[in-house]
Amino acid sequence: MKLFLDTANLAQIRRLNQMGVVDGITTNPTLVAKEPGEFEEIIAAICKEVKGDVSAEVVATDFDGMVAEAKRISTIAPNVVVKIPIIPEGLRATKAISGMGMRVNMTLVFSANQGLLAAKAGASFISPFIGRLDDIGQRGMELVEDLVKIRDNYGMKAEVLVGSIRHPQHVLEAAKVGADIATMPPEVMEKMMQHPLTDSGLKRFLDDWDRAKKSKQSVAA
Ligand code: E4P
Repeated sequence: MKLFLDTANLAQIRRLNQMGVVDGITTNPTLVAKEPGEFEEIIAAICKEVKGDVSAEVVATDFDGMVAEAKRISTIAPNVVVKIPIIPEGLRATKAISGMGMRVNMTLVFSANQGLLAAKAGASFISPFIGRLDDIGQRGMELVEDLVKIRDNYGMKAEVLVGSIRHPQHVLEAAKVGADIATMPPEVMEKMMQHPLTDSGLKRFLDDWDRAKKSKQSVAA
Protein backbone atom coordinates (compact mmCIF):
# COMPACT_ATOMS: atom_id res chain seq x y z
CA MET A 1 0.00 0.00 0.00
CA LYS A 2 1.21 3.49 -0.81
CA LEU A 3 1.45 6.00 2.04
CA PHE A 4 0.63 9.64 1.34
CA LEU A 5 0.78 12.67 3.61
CA ASP A 6 -2.33 14.82 3.90
CA THR A 7 -0.74 18.23 4.39
CA ALA A 8 0.61 21.27 2.55
CA ASN A 9 3.29 21.93 5.16
CA LEU A 10 6.64 21.67 3.40
CA ALA A 11 8.75 21.29 6.55
CA GLN A 12 6.70 18.30 7.72
CA ILE A 13 6.72 16.82 4.21
CA ARG A 14 10.54 17.17 4.01
CA ARG A 15 11.15 15.55 7.41
CA LEU A 16 9.15 12.43 6.54
CA ASN A 17 10.16 12.29 2.88
CA GLN A 18 13.82 12.08 3.93
CA MET A 19 12.97 8.79 5.66
CA GLY A 20 11.84 7.28 2.35
CA VAL A 21 8.30 6.56 3.56
CA VAL A 22 6.27 9.10 1.57
CA ASP A 23 4.78 7.99 -1.75
CA GLY A 24 2.72 11.11 -2.44
CA ILE A 25 0.78 14.05 -1.02
CA THR A 26 -2.84 15.10 -0.84
CA THR A 27 -3.87 18.67 -0.12
CA ASN A 28 -7.22 20.39 0.12
CA PRO A 29 -8.26 24.07 0.34
CA THR A 30 -8.31 23.94 4.17
CA LEU A 31 -4.75 22.57 4.32
CA VAL A 32 -3.35 25.01 1.71
CA ALA A 33 -5.06 27.96 3.42
CA LYS A 34 -3.05 27.24 6.60
CA GLU A 35 0.28 27.76 4.81
CA PRO A 36 1.89 31.10 3.87
CA GLY A 37 2.27 31.95 0.16
CA GLU A 38 0.27 31.54 -3.01
CA PHE A 39 -1.49 28.28 -3.96
CA GLU A 40 0.65 27.69 -7.10
CA GLU A 41 3.93 28.30 -5.22
CA ILE A 42 2.95 25.95 -2.41
CA ILE A 43 1.94 23.14 -4.78
CA ALA A 44 5.04 23.67 -6.98
CA ALA A 45 7.34 23.40 -3.93
CA ILE A 46 5.62 20.19 -2.78
CA CYS A 47 5.80 18.67 -6.29
CA LYS A 48 9.53 19.40 -6.35
CA GLU A 49 10.10 17.80 -2.95
CA VAL A 50 8.03 14.64 -3.52
CA LYS A 51 8.41 12.63 -6.70
CA GLY A 52 5.06 10.83 -6.35
CA ASP A 53 1.54 12.12 -6.99
CA VAL A 54 0.51 15.43 -5.43
CA SER A 55 -3.21 16.23 -5.34
CA ALA A 56 -4.25 19.89 -5.59
CA GLU A 57 -7.94 20.77 -5.37
CA VAL A 58 -10.08 23.10 -7.47
CA VAL A 59 -12.30 25.59 -5.64
CA ALA A 60 -14.72 26.28 -8.50
CA THR A 61 -18.00 24.35 -8.32
CA ASP A 62 -19.20 24.87 -11.90
CA PHE A 63 -18.07 22.85 -14.92
CA ASP A 64 -16.27 25.66 -16.78
CA GLY A 65 -14.55 26.90 -13.64
CA MET A 66 -13.37 23.42 -12.65
CA VAL A 67 -12.01 22.68 -16.13
CA ALA A 68 -10.23 26.06 -16.27
CA GLU A 69 -8.68 25.51 -12.81
CA ALA A 70 -7.71 21.94 -13.69
CA LYS A 71 -5.85 23.18 -16.76
CA ARG A 72 -3.98 25.75 -14.63
CA ILE A 73 -3.19 23.23 -11.88
CA SER A 74 -1.89 20.66 -14.36
CA THR A 75 0.75 23.11 -15.63
CA ILE A 76 2.32 23.35 -12.15
CA ALA A 77 4.24 20.04 -12.41
CA PRO A 78 4.01 16.67 -14.16
CA ASN A 79 3.25 14.84 -10.89
CA VAL A 80 0.23 16.97 -10.02
CA VAL A 81 -3.22 15.36 -9.78
CA VAL A 82 -6.38 17.50 -9.98
CA LYS A 83 -8.74 17.01 -7.06
CA ILE A 84 -12.42 17.44 -7.89
CA PRO A 85 -15.41 17.11 -5.52
CA ILE A 86 -18.02 14.44 -6.26
CA ILE A 87 -20.91 16.67 -7.26
CA PRO A 88 -22.77 16.44 -10.60
CA GLU A 89 -20.67 19.24 -12.16
CA GLY A 90 -17.59 17.53 -10.74
CA LEU A 91 -18.41 14.27 -12.50
CA ARG A 92 -18.91 16.13 -15.76
CA ALA A 93 -15.62 17.96 -15.26
CA THR A 94 -13.86 14.68 -14.41
CA LYS A 95 -15.02 13.13 -17.68
CA ALA A 96 -13.74 16.16 -19.62
CA ILE A 97 -10.50 16.58 -17.69
CA SER A 98 -9.54 12.90 -17.75
CA GLY A 99 -10.36 12.89 -21.47
CA MET A 100 -7.73 15.59 -21.90
CA GLY A 101 -5.15 13.32 -20.26
CA MET A 102 -5.13 14.89 -16.78
CA ARG A 103 -5.45 12.64 -13.74
CA VAL A 104 -8.31 13.27 -11.33
CA ASN A 105 -8.63 12.49 -7.63
CA MET A 106 -12.37 12.50 -6.89
CA THR A 107 -12.77 13.76 -3.36
CA LEU A 108 -15.42 13.99 -0.62
CA VAL A 109 -16.63 10.45 -1.32
CA PHE A 110 -18.96 9.24 1.44
CA SER A 111 -20.79 6.36 -0.30
CA ALA A 112 -19.81 3.43 -2.49
CA ASN A 113 -22.24 4.61 -5.16
CA GLN A 114 -20.43 7.95 -5.35
CA GLY A 115 -17.17 6.03 -5.74
CA LEU A 116 -18.64 3.87 -8.49
CA LEU A 117 -19.72 6.98 -10.39
CA ALA A 118 -16.30 8.61 -9.88
CA ALA A 119 -14.56 5.60 -11.42
CA LYS A 120 -17.00 5.52 -14.31
CA ALA A 121 -16.45 9.22 -15.04
CA GLY A 122 -12.71 8.53 -15.38
CA ALA A 123 -11.20 9.40 -11.98
CA SER A 124 -7.78 7.85 -11.36
CA PHE A 125 -8.24 8.04 -7.58
CA ILE A 126 -11.35 7.72 -5.41
CA SER A 127 -11.08 9.35 -1.97
CA PRO A 128 -13.43 8.02 0.72
CA PHE A 129 -13.26 10.15 3.90
CA ILE A 130 -13.41 7.63 6.71
CA GLY A 131 -12.80 9.77 9.81
CA ARG A 132 -15.69 12.07 8.95
CA LEU A 133 -17.98 9.03 8.61
CA ASP A 134 -16.78 7.67 11.97
CA ASP A 135 -17.56 11.12 13.42
CA ILE A 136 -21.24 10.77 12.51
CA GLY A 137 -21.48 7.23 13.85
CA GLN A 138 -21.02 5.32 10.59
CA ARG A 139 -18.16 2.83 10.15
CA GLY A 140 -15.89 4.60 7.64
CA MET A 141 -13.87 1.44 6.98
CA GLU A 142 -17.00 -0.29 5.68
CA LEU A 143 -16.99 2.18 2.78
CA VAL A 144 -13.37 1.31 2.04
CA GLU A 145 -14.22 -2.40 2.11
CA ASP A 146 -17.08 -1.81 -0.35
CA LEU A 147 -14.93 0.24 -2.72
CA VAL A 148 -12.11 -2.34 -2.67
CA LYS A 149 -14.63 -5.09 -3.44
CA ILE A 150 -16.13 -3.09 -6.33
CA ARG A 151 -12.63 -2.29 -7.64
CA ASP A 152 -11.73 -6.00 -7.58
CA ASN A 153 -15.08 -7.22 -8.97
CA TYR A 154 -14.72 -5.13 -12.09
CA GLY A 155 -10.95 -4.67 -12.40
CA MET A 156 -11.44 -0.93 -12.07
CA LYS A 157 -8.34 1.13 -12.78
CA ALA A 158 -9.22 3.79 -10.21
CA GLU A 159 -7.18 3.52 -7.01
CA VAL A 160 -8.89 3.62 -3.61
CA LEU A 161 -7.20 6.44 -1.69
CA VAL A 162 -8.33 6.40 1.95
CA GLY A 163 -8.59 9.92 3.38
CA SER A 164 -9.65 11.56 6.62
CA ILE A 165 -7.45 9.16 8.56
CA ARG A 166 -7.27 9.99 12.25
CA HIS A 167 -4.96 7.37 13.81
CA PRO A 168 -2.54 4.53 12.96
CA GLN A 169 -5.27 1.90 13.38
CA HIS A 170 -7.07 3.42 10.39
CA VAL A 171 -3.90 2.94 8.29
CA LEU A 172 -3.52 -0.68 9.40
CA GLU A 173 -7.16 -1.50 8.69
CA ALA A 174 -6.98 0.19 5.27
CA ALA A 175 -3.94 -1.98 4.44
CA LYS A 176 -5.68 -5.13 5.66
CA VAL A 177 -8.77 -4.58 3.52
CA GLY A 178 -6.66 -3.91 0.40
CA ALA A 179 -6.88 -0.15 -0.15
CA ASP A 180 -4.33 1.15 -2.66
CA ILE A 181 -3.31 4.28 -0.74
CA ALA A 182 -3.74 5.75 2.75
CA THR A 183 -3.27 9.50 3.15
CA MET A 184 -2.69 10.76 6.66
CA PRO A 185 -1.72 13.82 8.67
CA PRO A 186 2.06 13.86 9.43
CA GLU A 187 1.26 13.28 13.13
CA VAL A 188 -0.31 9.91 12.28
CA MET A 189 2.78 8.82 10.32
CA GLU A 190 4.98 9.89 13.25
CA LYS A 191 2.83 7.75 15.57
CA MET A 192 3.21 4.75 13.22
CA MET A 193 6.96 4.75 13.99
CA GLN A 194 6.56 4.73 17.72
CA HIS A 195 6.43 1.85 20.17
CA PRO A 196 7.23 2.08 23.90
CA LEU A 197 9.10 -1.26 23.75
CA THR A 198 11.37 0.16 21.02
CA ASP A 199 12.23 3.11 23.30
CA SER A 200 12.75 1.02 26.44
CA GLY A 201 14.64 -1.64 24.44
CA LEU A 202 17.00 0.94 22.97
CA LYS A 203 17.54 2.56 26.37
CA ARG A 204 18.46 -0.82 27.86
CA PHE A 205 20.92 -1.63 25.04
CA LEU A 206 22.66 1.72 25.47
CA ASP A 207 22.69 1.55 29.30
CA ASP A 208 24.17 -1.99 29.21
CA TRP A 209 26.76 -0.84 26.70
CA ASP A 210 27.82 2.13 28.88
CA ARG A 211 27.93 0.02 32.04
CA ALA A 212 30.13 -2.63 30.38
CA LYS A 213 32.42 0.04 28.95
CA LYS A 214 32.85 1.68 32.35
CA SER A 215 33.59 -1.62 34.13
CA LYS A 216 36.14 -2.60 31.41
CA GLN A 217 37.81 0.80 31.83
CA SER A 218 38.01 0.39 35.64
CA VAL A 219 39.52 -3.13 35.26
CA ALA A 220 42.11 -1.76 32.81
CA ALA A 221 43.01 1.18 35.12
C1 E4P B 1 -8.07 13.76 1.65
O1 E4P B 1 -7.69 13.86 0.50
C2 E4P B 1 -8.49 14.93 2.46
O2 E4P B 1 -7.61 15.99 2.24
C3 E4P B 1 -8.43 14.66 3.95
O3 E4P B 1 -8.01 13.36 4.23
C4 E4P B 1 -9.56 15.19 4.74
O4 E4P B 1 -9.39 14.79 6.08
P1 E4P B 1 -10.09 15.49 7.33
O5 E4P B 1 -11.42 14.85 7.52
O6 E4P B 1 -9.16 15.19 8.47
O7 E4P B 1 -10.17 16.95 7.02
